Amino acid sequence: MARFDDGRPEMSVEEFRLLRDHVYSHCGILMHEDMKFVMERRLWPRLELLGLPDYGAYHRYLRYDANRSAELEAAVESLTTHETYFFREPMQLQSFTDELLPALQKRNARLKRLRVWSAGCSSGEEAYTLAMILKDSGRFSDWDVEVHGTDISRRVLALARRAEYGPSALRATSRELQERHFAQLAPNRFGVRDDVRAWVSFGHLNLLDEAGSQLVPRMDVVFCRNVLIYFDLAARQKFLRIVRDRLVPGGYLLLGHSENLLSLGADFEFVHLRGTWCTGGPSWTTEPSGEHPGCHHRIGHR
Ligand SMILES: C[S@@+](CC[C@H](N)C(=O)[O-])C[C@H]1O[C@@H](n2cnc3c(N)ncnc32)[C@H](O)[C@@H]1O
Repeated sequence: MARFDDGRPEMSVEEFRLLRDHVYSHCGILMHEDMKFVMERRLWPRLELLGLPDYGAYHRYLRYDANRSAELEAAVESLTTHETYFFREPMQLQSFTDELLPALQKRNARLKRLRVWSAGCSSGEEAYTLAMILKDSGRFSDWDVEVHGTDISRRVLALARRAEYGPSALRATSRELQERHFAQLAPNRFGVRDDVRAWVSFGHLNLLDEAGSQLVPRMDVVFCRNVLIYFDLAARQKFLRIVRDRLVPGGYLLLGHSENLLSLGADFEFVHLRGTWCTGGPSWTTEPSGEHPGCHHRIGHR
């Protein structure tokens, strides 16, 4: 086995493929061959902690050890990217506010209930942003509103539940929004205010876990942004089937600006929102009812 100068074992191509396939089949995250070095670097602390001599031994541990599911979570934790911040992709959020919220208010007027899912919510910034937008719209003040954030990483979920953030998380948040929705806890520490927190809950979920996702109630809107970029086609297709099942008829799915479902031919119809064109990438929504106001292009529901 080859070793680096500092004594660390090198990951062979065979070991890389075994580990990559194992992680992929668990959570859909696909690491390309050119990411062998990244995987090697990020997993090395796990080998050190477990006292394992090389990546082959680590693969065997992940497959057969009694502690394998906890370790797989730790491995996925090391390999995932959790980058996020409040009010990310503002043009899309503006479209959500201007174009979708009036439609949702009308559609759910009788029930007065709205459920929004931040799927792959990381440390909670997206879920809280959505609750802030819903509050500021003034449309749902006496409604039963629930924003549910889920992620595969328990570490980021703990941060989400704590709801305390540094300046970098607020880098796209205006002073006005900051003053309205955050309490300053320390010079560089901001806590989300309780009225927003009251609308938001968090749960652990692997988005490709069909059985687990059945526990998610049916949603009016799903935001799944900057998650599918890490999935390959098959994982995206599986995710779409799951999300389709969790949406109410006429519900919306909004993706990140660099993600699209064009090639998937899924059982969705697509609506281009004004703001998402402006950011350069389409976001896709499902919209079965045919009542979408002011949309620029839509394809009929199947
Ligand atoms: C880059 S962050 C995006 C956060 C937020 N949606 C945003 O756009 O700012 C991607 C998140 O997706 C989560 N994730 C990746 N694969 C997942 C899976 N199979 N199930 C659930 N969450 C997953 C990661 O743990 C990470 O927190």
